[in-house]
Amino acid sequence: MMGIDGGRRLMEGETSKAANVSATLGRFWGYFRGNAIGVIIALALVVVVTWTQVTAPDYIGQAVDCYFYPRVAQSFGGQEIPGSNCWFDPTVQTAVNGGQESLNAVPLDAKLTGLGSIVLILLGLFALGSVLNGLAFFAMSRTGQTVLKKMRQDLFLKMQNLSMGYYSEHEVGNLMSRITSDTDTIQQVFGFALLSVISGALLIVWVMIKMLQSNWVYALISLSIVPVMFFATVYLSNQARKAYRKSRQEMGNVNAGLQESIAGVREVQAFNREEESIDQFRLRNAANRDANVRAASFTSALNPVLEALGYVAVGIVVVAGGLSVLRNQPLLGIGVEIISLGTVFAFLQYVQRFNQPITQIAVLWANIQSAIAGGERIFGLLDTEIEIQDKPNAKLMPEIQGRVEFSQVEAGYKVDQPVLKGVDFTAETGQMIAIVGPTGAGKTTIINLIPRFYEVTSGSVRIDGIDVRDVTQDSLRSQIGIVLQDTFLFSDTVMNNIRYGRLGATDEDVIAAAKMVAADTFIERLPEGYQTVLGERGSGLSQGQRQLIAIARVALMNPRILILDEATSSVDTRTERLIQKAFEQILKGRTSFVIAHRLSTIRNANVVMMLKDGEIIERGTHQTLLAKQGAYYDLYMSQFRREEEPEASMNGKVETAVEKS
Ligand SMILES: Nc1ncnc2c1ncn2[C@@H]1O[C@H](COP(=O)(O)OP(=O)(O)O)[C@@H](O)[C@H]1O
Ligand SMILES: [Mg+2]
Repeated sequence: MMGIDGGRRLMEGETSKAANVSATLGRFWGYFRGNAIGVIIALALVVVVTWTQVTAPDYIGQAVDCYFYPRVAQSFGGQEIPGSNCWFDPTVQTAVNGGQESLNAVPLDAKLTGLGSIVLILLGLFALGSVLNGLAFFAMSRTGQTVLKKMRQDLFLKMQNLSMGYYSEHEVGNLMSRITSDTDTIQQVFGFALLSVISGALLIVWVMIKMLQSNWVYALISLSIVPVMFFATVYLSNQARKAYRKSRQEMGNVNAGLQESIAGVREVQAFNREEESIDQFRLRNAANRDANVRAASFTSALNPVLEALGYVAVGIVVVAGGLSVLRNQPLLGIGVEIISLGTVFAFLQYVQRFNQPITQIAVLWANIQSAIAGGERIFGLLDTEIEIQDKPNAKLMPEIQGRVEFSQVEAGYKVDQPVLKGVDFTAETGQMIAIVGPTGAGKTTIINLIPRFYEVTSGSVRIDGIDVRDVTQDSLRSQIGIVLQDTFLFSDTVMNNIRYGRLGATDEDVIAAAKMVAADTFIERLPEGYQTVLGERGSGLSQGQRQLIAIARVALMNPRILILDEATSSVDTRTERLIQKAFEQILKGRTSFVIAHRLSTIRNANVVMMLKDGEIIERGTHQTLLAKQGAYYDLYMSQFRREEEPEASMNGKVETAVEKS
């Protein structure tokens, strides 16, 4: 079943070891329990298949002992030698016990009929074995796929529900590839590896038992080579695996070197370092080749070595058994009984059945270990506690009016490292709140608390007097619109990306929303307008265009509370002003939070809050804060002012035009 290539592919894969094998196996079983019938069928079929494999040699032995080379009972050197044991054919058995003459009297036709039946039985066994083997693997794969489907579903569901905090601590890309490669390994194992190992092990044990039962001395001698086979296989496949690991590392080095010298090609050339760079690459490249060659030599050696050892086994069986048959003596003089030629043939069959399962077990065992380790990681993820959960008695958030109240809020991302230290403010319905402050001050952290993306560590966040922890997340978030600095667009049409804000919206609604936030003009100019399919994460659009689409999405959603976290940082001032005008329309009587680096945004705010190191150090209107000449004044002088002056002269006309309209 498994040629060199199959083995190679399997050994090339990454392997890893699980820490807690029994617990993980228990979890796997939990998944399989619902589909236990498939596993039971597969295992039962494997037992029958193995039975056909260990039974066939018996019949081959009978063909020899009854028809080709029957041995009559005789005295030999003062020793009684029984006739061959021909259980297959009672007539022949009687004849054998009756001596040479009666054996000669058995008609040729009867012998041929007997032989014919043996051939038929053998064919039947082989056919049955093949068919049932196929069915067993089919049953197992089917069950495995069902289980994997369930596992992937659980994973997806979990990942959708994990809180933001989890994603900020774990690299998502890494997580995703881990999970796909882990489920892949598990798929391989449930597909065929596990069943191959089980059937291989069963075959080995069963064959050994049959051999020992048949003639234990002969069996021990014949089996003497099996441990060698086993260790050779384990050694070679481990070495190959190690070499592949090394080759993967070297390949990583080659790639890293390649990338670095291409990215830094200007520096390399400017400093005349071409030769060093080429030498370095040559070295890494050679190391990769060496590792690969080493791996390939071990992989290629595996089958020939096992084959050679198999021939040694055959040699041992023939020589030891043959001597006993020819001399009519028990094996080495210590054997329990004289060996018949049929037994020699049966043993030849037996020892040849060891090769394949030993390779299978050696190669696949590591994969099974990897799958267990992968399962451990997957279950670990599934067990991650979702930090933010609805209370059991969570109510639905009624329609939000818009009064947002932070009282003595402390919050942070890591234990004992508060980012917000006692933030206290109230945003009245309909107000626009601007939050300003240096990078890292905690602005984003504040707005993350309103839709309860993170949990406060102390204090409370209330909307219309209701603690956000007392309502369901769905009912809360469906009324809050957020646009972040780095927006996420799906690889879908522009139309559907905007519609994400409100799934039931008609095309007209979508276009109206886009028009409202001044996104319409650029969308119309896209190759296929609203039907243009965006690349992954919205590639093909400028950062500002992506922000416009995200803003249109929120405009369509028509939220009761709007949060813009540097959402217009990449659009030009004129467009930003158009967007603001639009939002003034939408947001009549609704509350908004705006984090912006542009003065134009802040100047219109009802309240400006100046944040520093997680504390509100100043609050008031733009005018009062300027008059105060405190921190806000300094920030204004250093940041906004510089930006405002050239803008004012450049865009002065536009601004007045907009304001009049
Ligand atoms: N996901 C996160 N995990 C850990 N620390 C974070 C995370 N997000 C922000 N922080 C830390 O919290 C502080 C405030 O961040 P943030 O609210 O994003 O600042 P701002 O939006 O004002 O620039 C920073 O010191 C930042 O390092
Ligand atoms: Mg921020």
